Amino acid sequence: MIQHQYESHSPIWESRATIRSRPRRQIEDDALQYYPIERQPLCLHPLIVELGSEVEKYILIQSLYKYINDIIIFETEIVNRTARSIAKGLFLFDFPFACRYDAMSVVIDEDYHAYVAMDYLNQVQTQTGISPIVMPAEIELSRAIPRTLATLEEKYRDGMELLAVAISENTITADVAAFSRNLTIKRSVKGMMADHLADEGRHSSFWIKLVKIYWSNIDEATRLAIGAALPYFLQQYLTNDIQAEFDRRLVMAIAMPESSRRDVMADMVSSYPITKQHPMMVNIFNFFKASGLLDHGPTRRSLDVFI
Ligand SMILES: [Fe+2]
Ligand SMILES: [Fe+2]
Repeated sequence: MIQHQYESHSPIWESRATIRSRPRRQIEDDALQYYPIERQPLCLHPLIVELGSEVEKYILIQSLYKYINDIIIFETEIVNRTARSIAKGLFLFDFPFACRYDAMSVVIDEDYHAYVAMDYLNQVQTQTGISPIVMPAEIELSRAIPRTLATLEEKYRDGMELLAVAISENTITADVAAFSRNLTIKRSVKGMMADHLADEGRHSSFWIKLVKIYWSNIDEATRLAIGAALPYFLQQYLTNDIQAEFDRRLVMAIAMPESSRRDVMADMVSSYPITKQHPMMVNIFNFFKASGLLDHGPTRRSLDVFI
């Protein structure tokens, strides 16, 4: 019998879930940006700045399209795969009914977020006449999760998948929060992010509670195996290969002299070193602390590789 103290978030979901409570976000016709300029370093390159505000707007719109594309992949292919398997009782660990029921509410929320994102993408496209360039078919997690699971014995894979999703759900909450506070972007983009944040706040505590229940009820061998696999997962998750590839495609789509194009590509920022100071890592370590992982000596020590 597993030990747990878990109370369903269902009453809060019924009254506050955005699918239950928010009107459709409609794009407005103002001069504000579609995407925060500080999130797209390409716009700050002098050779791009020289090309003027229309090119800047084009880059920001394409970057919003990629952000939306990433959200759709994340919600429907990553989070919902795990949440649905928990909800249906197919997960290797036997979560209490209240957890499974709440996992199904997460599935609904995430599908709705993907729907809202698609609706908004379509509105931007109609308003601006700018079609998306070729979008990535994967996000970092699409590679990081299967690669990490492949290093583990079958019996440890579900637990690792749970941790990977819980980590990334906590990361996206922080990211969407930062986005929703930005003052330079359109009210409707901010509104869409604020709606998303309202649901993700509930999700991040849901995943923390699930990991806590899971982690405190598994045997020591499982904790050791998963704890040892975490650094590899984080290395794979925090790469920027896919973003860099997209940025290169974006530079190719802009009309500019070939020599400038080469210079811009050569100056593209390489990834942040993956240390504890990495902007996403700070948040990830807060999650490890909140979910009890750092109370486990061997896991704490395995994470010491990130100094
Ligand atoms: Fe979401
Ligand atoms: Fe979520």
